[in-house]
Amino acid sequence: MKIFLCVDAAQATALAGAQVQQQIMRKPESVLGFATGGTMEALYAELIRLHRHQALSFAGVRSFNLDEYLGLSGTHSHSYSHYMHQHLFDHVNIQPQHIHLLQGDAADPVVEAQAYEQRIQAVDGIDLQLLGLGENGHIGFNEPSSSLASRTRVKRLAPDTLAANQRYFSADISQPTHALTMGIGTIMDARQVVMLALGAKKADAVAHMIEGPISARWPASVLQMHPQTTVILDAPAAQHLACQIGRAHV
Ligand code: GLP
Repeated sequence: MKIFLCVDAAQATALAGAQVQQQIMRKPESVLGFATGGTMEALYAELIRLHRHQALSFAGVRSFNLDEYLGLSGTHSHSYSHYMHQHLFDHVNIQPQHIHLLQGDAADPVVEAQAYEQRIQAVDGIDLQLLGLGENGHIGFNEPSSSLASRTRVKRLAPDTLAANQRYFSADISQPTHALTMGIGTIMDARQVVMLALGAKKADAVAHMIEGPISARWPASVLQMHPQTTVILDAPAAQHLACQIGRAHV
């Protein structure tokens, strides 16, 4: 695990953006795994900036998103598909046929999950997987108790995740209780993982992820076993780490 402790969220986000930029420059046909959530919004804004001002091209990039709410169509205002178009896809030159999203309203979610795994295999796997971190240690929607070998499937959302994400929903749009998510095994197959975790609310999960025993209680802790993982933190997110980490010089 390569750990970068940044001076603030802006530096951390810029560093994560640079990792994606380097990957695309190394391999313009990269397969990127995208994540959603509040943390990723600034990162996608940074990728749009790099596209506009540094000619970063997404023309060859193929993408797979981590997860989607079960029951929501891709055009639903609260779907992760809608989020991705709003925050990234509509602003860069990614080819629509290169975008892969889980269909939350698939007639048979089990078939959808298996087909998604096959689509990932058909492009020879994910080169770089972006990850955010749930306050309870989840990655994607792999909640505590998820099998560390799990593949794409339906997961019931944990009460603390429902509480953390309630801010995105309103009285008239109720929050789905289940999601389709890449499994932990699926994520671990990515050749490179870049995790961005910011703010004090992530501090417990960060400490368990980096220093704790590998456990289904804190699913992100499995990343200790991944050979190419970069974790990018700001000071509040790093505050519960027992080990001393020097500041990143970037
Ligand atoms: C959701 C997503 C996760 C994401 C998490 C953190 O639960 N399924 O992939 O990592 O939110 O989100 P935020 O960045 O808003 O804290």
